[in-house]
Amino acid sequence: MSKLWGGRFSQSPEEWVDEFNASIGFDQNLVMEDLEGSEAHVTMLGECGILEHSEVKQILSGLSVLKEKAQKGELPYSVQNEDIHLNLEHFLIQEIGQVGGKLHTGRSRNDQVATDMHLYLKNRVIEIVELIRAVQEAVVKQAGEHVETIAPGYTHLQRAQPVSFAHHLMAYFWMLERDVQRFQDSLKRIDVSPLGAGALAGTTFPINRKRSAELLGFSDIYENSMDAVSDRDFIVEFLSNASMTIMHLSRFSEEMIIWSSQEFQFIELADAFSTGSSIMPQKKNPDMAELVRGKTGRVFGHLVSMLTVLKGLPLAYNKDMQEDKEGMFDTVHTLMGSLKIFAGMINTMKVKTDQLAKAVNEDFSNATELADYLASKGMPFREAHEVVGKLVLTCINQGIYLKDLPLSEMTAASFLIEEDIYHVLEPAQAVKRRESEGGTGFEQVKNQLKKAEAIIKDH
Ligand code: ARG
Repeated sequence: MSKLWGGRFSQSPEEWVDEFNASIGFDQNLVMEDLEGSEAHVTMLGECGILEHSEVKQILSGLSVLKEKAQKGELPYSVQNEDIHLNLEHFLIQEIGQVGGKLHTGRSRNDQVATDMHLYLKNRVIEIVELIRAVQEAVVKQAGEHVETIAPGYTHLQRAQPVSFAHHLMAYFWMLERDVQRFQDSLKRIDVSPLGAGALAGTTFPINRKRSAELLGFSDIYENSMDAVSDRDFIVEFLSNASMTIMHLSRFSEEMIIWSSQEFQFIELADAFSTGSSIMPQKKNPDMAELVRGKTGRVFGHLVSMLTVLKGLPLAYNKDMQEDKEGMFDTVHTLMGSLKIFAGMINTMKVKTDQLAKAVNEDFSNATELADYLASKGMPFREAHEVVGKLVLTCINQGIYLKDLPLSEMTAASFLIEEDIYHVLEPAQAVKRRESEGGTGFEQVKNQLKKAEAIIKDH
């Protein structure tokens, strides 16, 4: 088969070289974006008087036949035609004859591929934001039901202070909110058209770049043709934003896994999001959460790959850039899949309120309450810390908790302690009293939920 660029060649590469060179195996993912880019380009060429109207008409009708065939999966892509751009041009010429060869007037595959990537990512980012919103909604739904469910709060994975379970869940809402903001902000840089930059230097044809950008729904055009064809920052940025989001999901996964263990039993994941063991009949494994945690590795990998591909590339286009695609496609696929799983998993998980209540009643996470109690009665906090530390040690030695200490032992430690201490030591009181802004106090948590609901509604 002769190459579309074969003019100056007297010998064609062997098939195995073609295989190595080709990107059609994966860039066929861009078929719709490539056809849309061509439609806009040829329409603009007609409007600018560069092509005859009859030629534009023929090309547009050829492109629409290709669109239909692409949707039905009827395009016989070939490795000899290297990539999606050359394959489609080849099909177009087959479809409408030599006039199809006029489509590439004033264009290069370099601005073409960049345009495809911008179009592709723009749409995916919008879809990803929707999927993050669905996870946030699931978090808000669960949190709304558990404002007054008291759970142990941890630092160093050691019991620290009791918190509202909703408060813990809502921390993830705000992480995801920052992810949404980052993706939305990145649209400013994705929503820019490289089309018309040509190979690197622009073109001698009197094209109208703003018009083709407008036809494609882009908000802006690149100012510099060399930057336009060699910029892959928007892909790095996407991979970085995706890494951050899936890192958040991975942390959340870790909690799901811990919480559903026999040791914690804070939640039970729905059967639909769990699997069994082929040998141990009793097992119910949190595979989905584990997979999300595991898939985080490949997304981070794609980010580092892309940065490494770009490092040291001279201007403008270099074939190295063909390596921008697989990692990006895989990241889109992995992140979208993980977000979908997460929304379902959170929505359907069962919170074991009795287990949580049991947990907070059997620990020392109310020790700060006693120290604060003494400090509020005038004892310097450092001294209070010491007094309570000793009482905790007494309890540990006797195998009891602070609430089990008789008042006489408490007053022996400090005469400031009175009968009301037992009320203060209740985990629910510890939560309720933390009404500093953004704290775990019930009113604060309800306030957070209100703000979160408004954000989701606004969206
Ligand atoms: N398949 C190429 C890529 O993905 C398209 C651009 C090729 N341009 C070129 N002059 N070889 O980067």
